[in-house]
Amino acid sequence: MNIMRRVFLRLLGVSIVSSLALFIGAPFLVYRRSATSRRKEDEGVIYTPRNGLRIVLPLPRLRGAISLEEAIANRRSIREYLDEPIALDQLSQVLWAAQGITETRYGFRAAPSAGATYPLEIYAVVAPRGVAYRDGFLDPGSYKYLPHSHELLLVKKGDLVSQLYRAAIEQEWVREAPVNLVITAVYERTTKRYGSRGIRYVHMEAGHAGQNIYLQATAIGLATVAIGAFIDEDVRRIIGASEKEHPLYIMPLAKPRSIYRLEEDKFIEYIQINRK
Ligand SMILES: Cc1cc2nc3c(=O)[nH]c(=O)nc-3n(C[C@H](O)[C@H](O)[C@H](O)COP(=O)(O)O)c2cc1C
Repeated sequence: MNIMRRVFLRLLGVSIVSSLALFIGAPFLVYRRSATSRRKEDEGVIYTPRNGLRIVLPLPRLRGAISLEEAIANRRSIREYLDEPIALDQLSQVLWAAQGITETRYGFRAAPSAGATYPLEIYAVVAPRGVAYRDGFLDPGSYKYLPHSHELLLVKKGDLVSQLYRAAIEQEWVREAPVNLVITAVYERTTKRYGSRGIRYVHMEAGHAGQNIYLQATAIGLATVAIGAFIDEDVRRIIGASEKEHPLYIMPLAKPRSIYRLEEDKFIEYIQINRK
Protein backbone atom coordinates (compact mmCIF):
# COMPACT_ATOMS: atom_id res chain seq x y z
CA MET A 1 0.00 0.00 0.00
CA ASN A 2 1.57 3.29 -0.97
CA ILE A 3 1.86 6.20 1.44
CA MET A 4 -0.82 8.31 -0.22
CA ARG A 5 -3.35 5.56 0.00
CA ARG A 6 -2.46 4.80 3.63
CA VAL A 7 -2.93 8.45 4.59
CA PHE A 8 -6.19 8.53 2.67
CA LEU A 9 -7.52 5.42 4.36
CA ARG A 10 -6.59 6.79 7.76
CA LEU A 11 -8.51 9.92 6.89
CA LEU A 12 -11.48 7.81 6.03
CA GLY A 13 -11.25 6.23 9.46
CA VAL A 14 -10.55 2.75 8.12
CA SER A 15 -8.88 1.06 11.09
CA ILE A 16 -7.77 -2.51 11.67
CA VAL A 17 -10.85 -2.98 13.87
CA SER A 18 -13.24 -1.88 11.15
CA SER A 19 -11.42 -4.02 8.59
CA LEU A 20 -11.86 -7.00 10.90
CA ALA A 21 -15.53 -6.18 11.36
CA LEU A 22 -15.89 -5.99 7.58
CA PHE A 23 -14.14 -9.33 7.23
CA ILE A 24 -16.41 -10.98 9.82
CA GLY A 25 -19.48 -9.31 8.35
CA ALA A 26 -18.64 -10.14 4.73
CA PRO A 27 -20.50 -13.49 4.53
CA PHE A 28 -23.64 -11.80 5.88
CA LEU A 29 -23.31 -8.98 3.36
CA VAL A 30 -22.95 -11.52 0.57
CA TYR A 31 -25.91 -13.46 1.92
CA ARG A 32 -28.02 -10.33 2.19
CA ARG A 33 -27.11 -9.34 -1.34
CA SER A 34 -27.97 -12.72 -2.85
CA ALA A 35 -31.08 -13.05 -0.69
CA THR A 36 -32.40 -9.72 -1.90
CA SER A 37 -30.98 -9.69 -5.42
CA ARG A 38 -33.12 -7.43 -7.54
CA ARG A 39 -34.79 -8.57 -10.68
CA LYS A 40 -36.57 -6.27 -13.08
CA GLU A 41 -39.94 -7.53 -11.83
CA ASP A 42 -39.03 -6.54 -8.22
CA GLU A 43 -38.87 -2.87 -9.14
CA GLY A 44 -41.40 -0.65 -7.45
CA VAL A 45 -42.45 -3.49 -5.19
CA ILE A 46 -42.86 -2.50 -1.59
CA TYR A 47 -41.46 -4.99 0.85
CA THR A 48 -41.13 -4.97 4.59
CA PRO A 49 -37.92 -6.41 5.91
CA ARG A 50 -36.94 -5.88 9.56
CA ASN A 51 -36.08 -2.25 9.00
CA GLY A 52 -39.13 -0.59 7.50
CA LEU A 53 -41.24 -0.25 4.40
CA ARG A 54 -39.08 0.14 1.30
CA ILE A 55 -39.47 0.78 -2.41
CA VAL A 56 -37.06 -1.05 -4.70
CA LEU A 57 -35.94 1.52 -7.27
CA PRO A 58 -35.15 0.57 -10.86
CA LEU A 59 -31.40 0.73 -11.39
CA PRO A 60 -30.25 4.05 -12.88
CA ARG A 61 -28.97 4.26 -16.43
CA LEU A 62 -25.23 4.84 -16.64
CA ARG A 63 -25.43 6.15 -20.21
CA GLY A 64 -27.63 8.97 -21.41
CA ALA A 65 -28.99 10.47 -24.58
CA ILE A 66 -27.50 13.96 -24.30
CA SER A 67 -23.98 15.24 -23.65
CA LEU A 68 -22.82 16.98 -20.49
CA GLU A 69 -22.38 20.18 -22.54
CA GLU A 70 -26.01 20.07 -23.66
CA ALA A 71 -27.20 19.47 -20.10
CA ILE A 72 -25.20 22.49 -18.88
CA ALA A 73 -26.35 24.70 -21.77
CA ASN A 74 -30.00 23.78 -21.31
CA ARG A 75 -30.18 23.79 -17.50
CA ARG A 76 -32.60 26.38 -16.21
CA SER A 77 -34.59 26.95 -13.03
CA ILE A 78 -38.10 26.03 -14.16
CA ARG A 79 -41.17 26.86 -12.10
CA GLU A 80 -44.10 25.98 -14.38
CA TYR A 81 -45.07 22.35 -14.61
CA LEU A 82 -47.48 20.00 -16.33
CA ASP A 83 -50.08 18.40 -14.11
CA GLU A 84 -48.69 14.91 -14.74
CA PRO A 85 -46.85 12.32 -12.68
CA ILE A 86 -43.19 11.54 -13.22
CA ALA A 87 -42.12 7.92 -13.69
CA LEU A 88 -40.39 5.85 -11.00
CA ASP A 89 -37.44 5.45 -13.41
CA GLN A 90 -37.05 9.22 -13.57
CA LEU A 91 -37.15 9.60 -9.80
CA SER A 92 -34.62 6.78 -9.48
CA GLN A 93 -32.28 8.44 -11.97
CA VAL A 94 -32.33 11.84 -10.24
CA LEU A 95 -31.85 10.37 -6.76
CA TRP A 96 -28.85 8.43 -8.02
CA ALA A 97 -27.38 11.58 -9.56
CA ALA A 98 -27.84 13.43 -6.25
CA GLN A 99 -26.24 10.92 -3.88
CA GLY A 100 -26.10 7.49 -5.55
CA ILE A 101 -23.17 5.11 -5.51
CA THR A 102 -20.52 5.55 -8.22
CA GLU A 103 -17.66 3.53 -6.69
CA THR A 104 -18.02 0.08 -5.25
CA ARG A 105 -14.98 -0.39 -3.03
CA TYR A 106 -15.77 2.28 -0.44
CA GLY A 107 -19.26 3.22 -1.57
CA PHE A 108 -18.29 6.70 -2.79
CA ARG A 109 -21.10 8.75 -4.29
CA ALA A 110 -22.07 10.82 -7.31
CA ALA A 111 -21.27 14.11 -5.55
CA PRO A 112 -17.93 14.73 -3.82
CA SER A 113 -17.81 14.86 -0.02
CA ALA A 114 -15.12 16.29 2.29
CA GLY A 115 -13.25 13.26 3.66
CA ALA A 116 -16.12 11.11 2.35
CA THR A 117 -18.05 12.03 5.52
CA TYR A 118 -21.33 12.20 3.56
CA PRO A 119 -23.39 14.61 5.66
CA LEU A 120 -26.30 14.81 3.20
CA GLU A 121 -29.60 12.94 3.17
CA ILE A 122 -32.11 13.11 0.34
CA TYR A 123 -35.87 12.89 0.84
CA ALA A 124 -38.53 12.60 -1.83
CA VAL A 125 -41.88 14.10 -0.86
CA VAL A 126 -44.29 12.36 -3.21
CA ALA A 127 -47.67 13.94 -4.00
CA PRO A 128 -50.82 11.84 -4.50
CA ARG A 129 -50.57 10.30 -7.99
CA GLY A 130 -47.15 11.96 -8.23
CA VAL A 131 -44.99 8.97 -9.20
CA ALA A 132 -46.25 6.40 -11.68
CA TYR A 133 -45.02 2.85 -11.84
CA ARG A 134 -46.58 -0.12 -13.63
CA ASP A 135 -50.35 0.50 -13.51
CA GLY A 136 -50.37 2.51 -10.32
CA PHE A 137 -48.74 5.20 -8.24
CA LEU A 138 -46.48 5.36 -5.22
CA ASP A 139 -48.29 6.09 -1.99
CA PRO A 140 -48.00 9.77 -1.16
CA GLY A 141 -45.61 10.59 1.65
CA SER A 142 -42.04 11.30 2.57
CA TYR A 143 -39.36 8.79 1.56
CA LYS A 144 -35.69 8.75 2.43
CA TYR A 145 -33.19 7.70 -0.23
CA LEU A 146 -30.89 4.79 0.73
CA PRO A 147 -27.89 5.15 -1.61
CA HIS A 148 -26.22 1.81 -0.88
CA SER A 149 -29.23 -0.33 -1.81
CA HIS A 150 -30.75 2.25 -4.16
CA GLU A 151 -34.10 2.08 -2.38
CA LEU A 152 -36.57 4.44 -0.82
CA LEU A 153 -37.55 4.07 2.82
CA LEU A 154 -41.03 5.29 3.70
CA VAL A 155 -40.65 7.76 6.56
CA LYS A 156 -44.10 9.36 6.71
CA LYS A 157 -47.22 8.34 4.83
CA GLY A 158 -49.82 10.85 3.58
CA ASP A 159 -50.26 13.94 1.47
CA LEU A 160 -47.65 16.40 2.77
CA VAL A 161 -47.65 18.76 -0.19
CA SER A 162 -49.81 21.61 1.22
CA GLN A 163 -47.77 21.64 4.41
CA LEU A 164 -44.50 21.72 2.47
CA TYR A 165 -45.86 24.51 0.26
CA ARG A 166 -46.68 26.61 3.33
CA ALA A 167 -43.27 25.87 4.87
CA ALA A 168 -41.69 27.05 1.60
CA ILE A 169 -43.35 30.49 1.97
CA GLU A 170 -46.11 29.48 -0.44
CA GLN A 171 -43.94 29.13 -3.53
CA GLU A 172 -46.41 27.74 -6.07
CA TRP A 173 -43.88 25.43 -7.74
CA VAL A 174 -43.66 23.39 -4.54
CA ARG A 175 -47.43 22.81 -4.56
CA GLU A 176 -47.55 21.98 -8.26
CA ALA A 177 -44.70 19.48 -8.47
CA PRO A 178 -45.49 15.75 -8.25
CA VAL A 179 -42.29 15.29 -6.23
CA ASN A 180 -40.23 17.63 -4.08
CA LEU A 181 -36.74 16.51 -3.18
CA VAL A 182 -35.41 17.81 0.13
CA ILE A 183 -31.68 17.82 0.86
CA THR A 184 -30.91 17.74 4.57
CA ALA A 185 -27.52 17.76 6.30
CA VAL A 186 -26.20 16.22 9.51
CA TYR A 187 -23.40 18.73 10.18
CA GLU A 188 -21.77 16.60 12.91
CA ARG A 189 -20.69 13.97 10.39
CA THR A 190 -18.35 16.55 8.85
CA THR A 191 -17.61 18.92 11.76
CA LYS A 192 -16.41 16.11 14.02
CA ARG A 193 -13.53 15.70 11.59
CA TYR A 194 -13.00 19.26 10.36
CA GLY A 195 -14.34 21.40 13.21
CA SER A 196 -16.25 24.56 12.32
CA ARG A 197 -14.70 24.56 8.82
CA GLY A 198 -16.87 21.50 8.18
CA ILE A 199 -19.95 23.76 8.07
CA ARG A 200 -18.79 25.39 4.84
CA TYR A 201 -17.93 21.96 3.43
CA VAL A 202 -21.48 20.77 4.07
CA HIS A 203 -22.93 23.77 2.23
CA MET A 204 -20.57 23.20 -0.68
CA GLU A 205 -21.72 19.59 -0.84
CA ALA A 206 -25.37 20.61 -0.94
CA GLY A 207 -24.41 22.75 -3.95
CA HIS A 208 -22.73 19.78 -5.65
CA ALA A 209 -25.72 17.52 -5.06
CA GLY A 210 -28.11 20.28 -6.14
CA GLN A 211 -26.24 20.83 -9.39
CA ASN A 212 -26.26 17.09 -10.10
CA ILE A 213 -30.03 17.15 -9.61
CA TYR A 214 -30.35 20.09 -12.01
CA LEU A 215 -28.20 18.47 -14.71
CA GLN A 216 -29.74 15.01 -14.43
CA ALA A 217 -33.25 16.48 -14.50
CA THR A 218 -32.34 18.46 -17.63
CA ALA A 219 -30.82 15.38 -19.28
CA ILE A 220 -34.04 13.37 -18.86
CA GLY A 221 -36.47 16.18 -19.73
CA LEU A 222 -37.55 17.10 -16.21
CA ALA A 223 -37.73 20.50 -14.54
CA THR A 224 -36.41 21.62 -11.18
CA VAL A 225 -35.44 24.72 -9.22
CA ALA A 226 -33.20 25.06 -6.17
CA ILE A 227 -35.24 26.52 -3.31
CA GLY A 228 -33.47 27.99 -0.31
CA ALA A 229 -36.33 30.08 1.11
CA PHE A 230 -38.31 28.05 3.64
CA ILE A 231 -38.85 27.60 7.36
CA ASP A 232 -36.21 25.05 8.33
CA GLU A 233 -37.90 23.57 11.39
CA ASP A 234 -41.27 23.19 9.62
CA VAL A 235 -39.67 21.41 6.64
CA ARG A 236 -37.73 19.11 8.96
CA ARG A 237 -40.88 18.15 10.87
CA ILE A 238 -43.04 17.73 7.74
CA ILE A 239 -40.65 15.30 6.05
CA GLY A 240 -40.09 13.36 9.29
CA ALA A 241 -36.33 14.01 9.48
CA SER A 242 -34.46 13.61 12.78
CA GLU A 243 -33.53 16.63 14.90
CA LYS A 244 -29.90 16.26 13.81
CA GLU A 245 -30.88 16.94 10.19
CA HIS A 246 -31.07 20.46 8.80
CA PRO A 247 -32.92 21.06 5.52
CA LEU A 248 -30.77 23.00 3.02
CA TYR A 249 -32.60 22.76 -0.28
CA ILE A 250 -36.05 21.89 -1.60
CA MET A 251 -35.97 20.92 -5.27
CA PRO A 252 -39.30 20.24 -7.01
CA LEU A 253 -39.20 17.62 -9.74
CA ALA A 254 -41.76 17.73 -12.54
CA LYS A 255 -42.42 17.66 -16.25
CA PRO A 256 -41.86 21.21 -17.53
CA ARG A 257 -44.61 23.22 -19.17
CA SER A 258 -42.03 24.29 -21.73
CA ILE A 259 -38.50 23.08 -22.33
CA TYR A 260 -35.61 25.54 -22.25
CA ARG A 261 -33.00 25.37 -25.04
CA LEU A 262 -30.01 27.66 -25.40
CA GLU A 263 -29.96 28.77 -29.05
CA GLU A 264 -26.43 28.56 -30.37
CA ASP A 265 -26.64 31.58 -32.71
CA LYS A 266 -28.06 33.77 -29.94
CA PHE A 267 -25.33 32.54 -27.61
CA ILE A 268 -22.60 33.43 -30.13
CA GLU A 269 -24.19 36.83 -30.80
CA TYR A 270 -24.34 37.54 -27.04
CA ILE A 271 -20.65 36.78 -26.57
CA GLN A 272 -19.68 38.84 -29.62
CA ILE A 273 -21.65 41.89 -28.46
CA ASN A 274 -19.96 41.70 -25.08
CA ARG A 275 -16.52 41.50 -26.68
CA LYS A 276 -16.92 44.86 -28.37
C1 LIG B 1 -28.88 29.10 -2.90
C2 LIG B 1 -30.03 29.33 -3.84
C3 LIG B 1 -31.30 29.59 -3.33
C4 LIG B 1 -32.38 29.76 -4.18
N1 LIG B 1 -33.63 29.91 -3.66
C5 LIG B 1 -34.69 29.99 -4.48
C6 LIG B 1 -36.00 30.07 -3.94
O1 LIG B 1 -36.22 30.06 -2.73
N2 LIG B 1 -37.04 30.10 -4.83
C7 LIG B 1 -36.84 30.08 -6.17
O2 LIG B 1 -37.83 30.11 -6.90
N3 LIG B 1 -35.61 30.03 -6.72
C8 LIG B 1 -34.52 29.97 -5.91
N4 LIG B 1 -33.27 29.85 -6.44
C9 LIG B 1 -33.08 29.80 -7.91
C10 LIG B 1 -32.55 31.12 -8.48
O3 LIG B 1 -33.56 32.08 -8.46
C11 LIG B 1 -32.04 30.86 -9.91
O4 LIG B 1 -30.95 29.98 -9.88
C12 LIG B 1 -31.60 32.18 -10.60
O5 LIG B 1 -32.72 32.99 -10.86
C13 LIG B 1 -30.85 31.94 -11.92
O6 LIG B 1 -31.65 31.20 -12.82
P1 LIG B 1 -31.15 29.79 -13.44
O7 LIG B 1 -31.06 28.82 -12.27
O8 LIG B 1 -32.21 29.41 -14.42
O9 LIG B 1 -29.83 30.00 -14.04
C14 LIG B 1 -32.18 29.70 -5.60
C15 LIG B 1 -30.90 29.44 -6.11
C16 LIG B 1 -29.84 29.24 -5.24
C17 LIG B 1 -28.48 28.92 -5.81
